[in-house]
Amino acid sequence: MNIAVDGPAGAGKSTIAKLAAEKLNFIYVDTGALYRAIALYIIRNNVDIENEDMLKKALNDIEIDIRYEDKIQMVYLNKENVSKLIRTEEVGNMASKSSAKKPVRDRLLSLQREIAAENNVIMDGRDIGTNVLKSAELKIYLTASVSVRAERRYNQLKEKGENPDIKRIEEDIIVRDRQDMTREIAPLKQAEDAIYLDTSDMKIEDVSEFIVNSAKKIMNKI
Ligand code: DC
Repeated sequence: MNIAVDGPAGAGKSTIAKLAAEKLNFIYVDTGALYRAIALYIIRNNVDIENEDMLKKALNDIEIDIRYEDKIQMVYLNKENVSKLIRTEEVGNMASKSSAKKPVRDRLLSLQREIAAENNVIMDGRDIGTNVLKSAELKIYLTASVSVRAERRYNQLKEKGENPDIKRIEEDIIVRDRQDMTREIAPLKQAEDAIYLDTSDMKIEDVSEFIVNSAKKIMNKI
């Protein structure tokens, strides 16, 4: 069974999907991490993403693997575990830009589909319900207001010991939403058959419980 969870940055997708995966004993796949791994390579190697030849050449030099260590997803870029390094704002912003490029999206499509074909997955991203797993049995579109999303991100960064600027985070979220929703290929949007959930005033546990219960109902019917 496949569950697709899409939505904008900071809507709580990963926390909620991780919790639901644990309860359902599904594999959680964070597809944003794959785009971030490519973005990290682009930053490190000064790849000009507007230069298609250069971008394609870079993609040829990139090997990306997902591994699960103690049930936690790890992303390897050319055999290096980059799971922590990809969690910066700089990498997130580059991932938002570079993920609009066709060669980048093409590169990650089959990897995502292969994992979903082999496992019960709950996969989060931007185009999972509309593109990657169009026939997912359950699709959820998670969102929250910009201010709530900025606050959540702020708290996450604080917890990591950083000294974030809430205004800056809000601005980044607005730019990121625009980029992810207006790009030509596989933009972020709610799939027609997705359940829309605004999590601004909802508890993380309640949202994950809703997903778990919806999934169980579907599994009972299959
Ligand atoms: O979920 P995230 O913030 O880690 O994702 C980083 C960027 O990657 C996001 O701004 C857009 C891109 N992305 C995408 O285009 N498609 C996905 N399925 C997941 C992420």
